[in-house]
Amino acid sequence: MAGEEDEAASAGGGRPVPFDTSVAHVARVYNYWLGGKDNFAADRAAGEQAIKAFPNIPLSARANRAFLARAVRFLAGEMGIRQFLDIGTGIPSASNTHEVAQWVAPDSRIVYVDNDPVVLTHARALLTSNPAGATDYIDADLRNPRQILAGAERTLDFGRPVAVMLMAILQHVADDEDPYQVVATLRDALPPGSYLALSHPASDIDAEAMAKMAAILNQMMAEKVTFRDRDAVARFFDGLELVEPGMVQASKWRPASEAEASSPAALWAGVALKR
Ligand SMILES: C[S@@+](CC[C@H](N)C(=O)[O-])C[C@H]1O[C@@H](n2cnc3c(N)ncnc32)[C@H](O)[C@@H]1O
Repeated sequence: MAGEEDEAASAGGGRPVPFDTSVAHVARVYNYWLGGKDNFAADRAAGEQAIKAFPNIPLSARANRAFLARAVRFLAGEMGIRQFLDIGTGIPSASNTHEVAQWVAPDSRIVYVDNDPVVLTHARALLTSNPAGATDYIDADLRNPRQILAGAERTLDFGRPVAVMLMAILQHVADDEDPYQVVATLRDALPPGSYLALSHPASDIDAEAMAKMAAILNQMMAEKVTFRDRDAVARFFDGLELVEPGMVQASKWRPASEAEASSPAALWAGVALKR
């Protein structure tokens, strides 16, 4: 469908959102890797080139979704967290944050944030809260964390613990855009007892293939990527206390089965507590 007329859609009858289908966008490329149908020819072309460079990228994307679900289940179930701020939501997929959290605790409150208009057009699917809880969607950019925090206050009480989720998004904040300050601003707004759950594509797992894939995505995709090594990703958790097993390959974070644990995920992942 690339080159076809741009589409206009609206979230829940809101303002129309034009979006460009002629250039690949990460939300739709990721949807393609996950086997979804919400993508266009330009997204599929970029997705396929990336697969040639790093054949495990579809499995890696699935392992990331599995980590997301395990992290939310852990936070809602074992840690009693009832508020989630999920930044870089993506096109709805299996086991979205509010579905997992409200399955464990129906009164969970979730705020989703993304800056891609195509994700906004899917917001309705994310706003299907259990009546005991709440969901909201904010069309905003991670690089403006104060705007996100101000919008999230509509739904979340920052006097009580909140889990901030930054799943496979920080690779789109370049080093010269100060990604560590962005995370610090979010962290500093959280009360004690809050958590940061984060995953990040690794430059030091399958390093050669990942470098090739990064070069291709940076040529073909609107959002640029910076993959980071273990130490650079670990710095995002500064000032926080990683829960067991620490920051590990995404598939190795509390896997539910042998199959999950052996998935070839090229991402670092962890969950950390703010004391
Ligand atoms: C690779 S997807 C990950 C989706 C989901 N978090 C997951 O882990 O399954 C990255 C998402 O982050 C969004 N994104 C990228 N840069 C962003 C930014 N600066 N602000 C807000 N969202 C952003 C993209 O639109 C996309 O939906």
